Amino acid sequence: MKSISIPDLPPVLSAATAERLGRGFTWGVATSAYQIEGAVDEDGRGPSIWDAFARQPGRTVNGESGAVACDHYRRWRDDVALIADLGVDAYRFSIAWPRVQPLGLGAFNAKGLDFYDRLVDGLLARGIAPHATLYHWDLPQHLQDLGGWGNRDTAFHFAHYADAMARRLGDRLASLATHNEPWCTAVLGHEIGKFAPGDRDPRLAAQVSHHLLLSHGLAMAAMRAGATACPLGIVLNQSSVTPATASPADQAAARTEYARFVRWYMDPLFHGEYPQDPGIARHPQVRDGDMALIRQPMDFLGINYYTRIWASRGQPPLPAPAALGVTDMGWEVYPDGLRELLVGLRAQYPGLPPLFITENGMASADTLAGGRVADRQRIDYVRAHLEAIAAARDQGVDVRGYFYWSLMDNYEWDSGYAKRFGLVHVDYASQQRTLKDSAHWYRASIAASREAAHG
Ligand code: FCB
Repeated sequence: MKSISIPDLPPVLSAATAERLGRGFTWGVATSAYQIEGAVDEDGRGPSIWDAFARQPGRTVNGESGAVACDHYRRWRDDVALIADLGVDAYRFSIAWPRVQPLGLGAFNAKGLDFYDRLVDGLLARGIAPHATLYHWDLPQHLQDLGGWGNRDTAFHFAHYADAMARRLGDRLASLATHNEPWCTAVLGHEIGKFAPGDRDPRLAAQVSHHLLLSHGLAMAAMRAGATACPLGIVLNQSSVTPATASPADQAAARTEYARFVRWYMDPLFHGEYPQDPGIARHPQVRDGDMALIRQPMDFLGINYYTRIWASRGQPPLPAPAALGVTDMGWEVYPDGLRELLVGLRAQYPGLPPLFITENGMASADTLAGGRVADRQRIDYVRAHLEAIAAARDQGVDVRGYFYWSLMDNYEWDSGYAKRFGLVHVDYASQQRTLKDSAHWYRASIAASREAAHG
């Protein structure tokens, strides 16, 4: 990959911000298996719930699926070179459960395991720290046929899979997370039906959230028992919540929303109990011992932050003027919400492990013209969120790193290929990758930050 100089690239991240991020700050990029790999029928991979979901009419934009995506399964060597070219320290990816264990139980697939072995070794050979996630939404379809996350047994199958992966890769990983965004699996997958498996059943969704947390606890216990060397944790999507007005009703609505979105996962993981909130009617069935399993020491916590949530009782939340604009997803750009969230977590959960921002980024309607993608809004977005992280660190929050979502444009779930989150542009017809301006800016900022932090 040639390094070209972009004439009017905005100034890099300031030295002052870089210093506040600290010397050992990890700079990374993130992806997930189903969104980039393609090759869904290759080398013994089993079907996943996303393959099945995308086939159902009307579920995804234009009926698009991850069948080809970025063809990363075949092009991974080039993609590792691309990651290295960005000058990052770390790469976060996910392991496709149906690729390594096609049915989600029983036999493992040697070719699938070899793929992740080679990927990890390829990253290490280029000095890039591999951060893996075990579950980024692609449940083996066979387990779905047995009841999916609504079936308590799935948690035990997950722990078995986690243990096998930790034994296989744990000696070389920089971190291993159990789940990515269990809220999305529970609520978007089982209550709203926007994501696979597409159920619309609030009672089921509550039980699924519990089984996801239980599976995390069982997996942590299994991996610790196996003496896994790498740091273990989980990745949660979180937001700050703003009441639409100062009225007591809206304040209460905001507390409920925070309890649903943030505390529903944080309280079990760190306090060993579900939050009680008058706005939350449904609680899952919990068996003796479950909460103690869920609440286990973690080595790190990953937080994905994109935007804030507005809350109001009664009418739909007031769309306040988005001072910093909205993204192509229609999400408000609100970096201070990240600072507010992090500072709040530190106060609410003493003994919080080190934090990583495992996802943050934005979609824009990028166009490739003359070999260039001028994505100025993305540069402003990343800079502002890094400044928010620096501000949180000033307030005592232990944030150790930042992973931009995403390395490259990819399959954005029900939105298909229309939403482009990448630092790298992908032409899906040719699979050509092109660094956007933001990629050049990120690389230059990382280099400048290293200098500033070490200076
Ligand atoms: C997160 C998901 C990730 C991607 C981004 C935009 O919720 O973890 O896969 O879709 O949103």
